[in-house]
Formats: sequence, C-alpha cells, structure tokens
Amino acid sequence: MRAAIEIERAKAHFAALVEEQLRRIQHLREESEEYPWVTGVKAKGRGPIVVGFVGGDGIGPYIIKEAERVLEFMLAEKLSTGEVVFREIEGLTIERRAKLMQSVPEDVMEAIKGCDVILKGPTTTPSPGDPYPNLESANVILRRELDLFANVRPVRIPEEGIDWVFFRENTEGEYALGSRGINVTDDLAVDFKVTTTIGAERIIRMAFEYAKRNGINRVTVVTKANIIKTTDGKFLSVAERVARDYPGITWDHWFVDIFAAKLMDRSRRSTFRVIVLPNLYGDIITDEAAELQGGVGTAGSANIGKRYAMFEAVHGSALRMVEEGRAIYADPTSILRASAMLLRHIGFMADAQRLESALDVCTKSHPVTGRPDGLTSTAFTDYLLETLRGMDTDTGGCGKERRRSDE
Ligand code: IPM
Ligand code: MG
Repeated sequence: MRAAIEIERAKAHFAALVEEQLRRIQHLREESEEYPWVTGVKAKGRGPIVVGFVGGDGIGPYIIKEAERVLEFMLAEKLSTGEVVFREIEGLTIERRAKLMQSVPEDVMEAIKGCDVILKGPTTTPSPGDPYPNLESANVILRRELDLFANVRPVRIPEEGIDWVFFRENTEGEYALGSRGINVTDDLAVDFKVTTTIGAERIIRMAFEYAKRNGINRVTVVTKANIIKTTDGKFLSVAERVARDYPGITWDHWFVDIFAAKLMDRSRRSTFRVIVLPNLYGDIITDEAAELQGGVGTAGSANIGKRYAMFEAVHGSALRMVEEGRAIYADPTSILRASAMLLRHIGFMADAQRLESALDVCTKSHPVTGRPDGLTSTAFTDYLLETLRGMDTDTGGCGKERRRSDE
C-alpha cells in the first residue's frame, strides 16, 4: 500500500520533468529560427560588443583582474572608439548566493544578460556536508539559462603533435536534471539523463562544421551507447545522420572507457583531432586531457550558445589557496587562454592568435606554480604584457593588418 503512494509520487515527479523537457524542446525549435548558428561576430549596427567580467569565488577575482588588464591592453583601440564596452559584474559570491539562497542571484543574471559575452572566474559549488546550503552549481544554471550548449575545450601539446578540440554537450545528459532526481523510498534513489534530438544535433553539427572550416578530416564521437542505450544511443544515431552531410570527413565512434584509456596511448592519441561527446563524459575526459597538457590550470574553456557566450577557466575556485594566503600566486593561464577564445569569438582573430603565442612563450619561461617558488599572477601578467608590447612593435604584422581591416 505504502509503495503505491510512493510510486504515484514518483510518477507525478517524472511527468512534471517530461512536460518541462518537452516545453524546452519546443522553445529550442522556435529559437533556432530566431538566431543563426553561433552568433560569432556581432552583426554591424547592433551596438557595441559588451564584455562582462564576473570575479566569482576564491582565486576567481585575482585571476579575472589580470585577464581584464590583458584584454584592456589588447582592445584599447576598440574600447576608446566604443566598439567594445567592458562591464564589471559584482555579486556572484558564495556568501551572497548562500544568503539569498539563489545559485545565481537575479540581479547578476540580469546584468549578465545585458552582455554579449562574459569572462567568468570559478564559482564554488557546495557539496553535501559543506558549511553552505546545498545550492545547484552556478555554472550549470548559467549554462542552462543562457542555453550555452557547446563547451569547447582545446588541448594542445605541440611537442607530441597533439591538437585536440573537444566539443562537450553542455546543457543535457546527466546535468539537465542533476538536482532533480528522486528518492522514491529511503532505499531507492533515481536520477535522470536527458538527450534530445535537437540538443545532440546542434553540438555534433558544430563539431563537424569546425572540422570542415579548419580543414580537419576526422571527427571522433564518444558515448557509452552499448550500456546507456536510449540517451547515448540517440546521440550516436544523430551523429550517424549528421556525418552523412560531411562526406569529406571521416568519423569514428569510441566508448568512453576505452577512449579514456587511448588518451594514455602515446602511439595513438595524437591521431584524434575533433572530439564530440555528451556532457558528463566531456566533463571527465576534458579534465584528463587538460592534465596531459600540464594541468587543468592550463586549459581554457568556452561555453557557447546562439545568443550568449561565457568564457572561463577549467579549474575551480581553489578556496584553500585563499585560506592559506596563496591566492596571489594563482595561475592565470587558464583564464587567459579563455580570454583568447573570447577574442576569437567576438571576431578579433589576430589578437587572439597574438595572445595565444605570447602565452606559449611566457608560460614556458616564467612559470606560475601556485606557490611562492613561482611568480605571482600579477608578475606573470606584467611579463605577458611586456611580451605583447614587444610583439606589437617587433613584428608590426598584426597591428598593421588590424588597422587596414578597420578602415
Ligand atoms: C567544468 C566543471 C563544472 C562541470 C562544475 C564546476 C559545475 O567541472 O566546467 O568542467 O561539472 O561542468
Ligand atoms: Mg569539469
């Protein structure tokens, strides 16, 4: 008898989730008419490009401050003409979020929606047992609310010939309803995983388009469709269909476990190029890949949607570094890589390239270790700026080219 009540409650819970997801699909269909594929450069005549800076928690404000300095330098001309506008957005701290009991306070969400792109420091996500209320991740909320469906994470190890770009689906999978699972009884917990045709198609197509545009002839799809037959099965079948539109590109499919193993295989791993995968596998695999590159502190991450885009570091807020007084030694490399991705996204390719090259040089010669034996974030950024200034006057190439195209 008791079970019957619990089953009814679970059914009602499930029904509400299904209804919500069906509404979401409807909304995505309508929206896909409204915006073209990834907005990229803002159409002319639609006002300035508004870039928002959100500090976040822990080491976030320390590294965001440095990234803002670099972008200010690189975009000086555009800032002075008003083509680009910077906005600092306060109030996305764990203390404030806990007090308001909102993962992303409403005023912060409004301010973010007033920007075209944001650069965001890491935000602390409370886990059960933490001193904070068990709020849902601010990141997950932002990705969902701004519909940032593509999490693009490049990993490069030039000396090994590794040049990977991961396209992680960013709004569905286990994350879509990650905080909406149900304890049917004390003994039975159930979570839900969601894959929609439109959601799978847009990320897979984005990966193939990227490969095509960049002359890359291989796309790798990663799932666990042998076990997770329905949702991953859909992801794989959508990939099969989309791949037919790209006859020039070879594609292959790997199960996530063996794919994780193959990333350890030196003789094979450099053959992968563009990888597309559902949300949770992408979360795990991109940490593994970033570790191979030199640590999660070295990789940038772009969250891209049709209207908005958010750029961030791959690492977390490292509250411990702040507690131990080491925040000034935080490595800004990851957020600076993300800043280069931001520049590229808003259409300043030469600047993005210049920042990436400067980072390649400076991270080798002037390491930041997170401790007093390395540089502080500020000292590293000073050196980076000096290098960028040198590139400006030495080569002149990018500068001249930029001026020409602006005329
Ligand atoms: C990431 C992070 C996030 C995720 C957390 C902070 C919510 O690990 O960006 O990979 O799980 O997606
Ligand atoms: Mg992660």
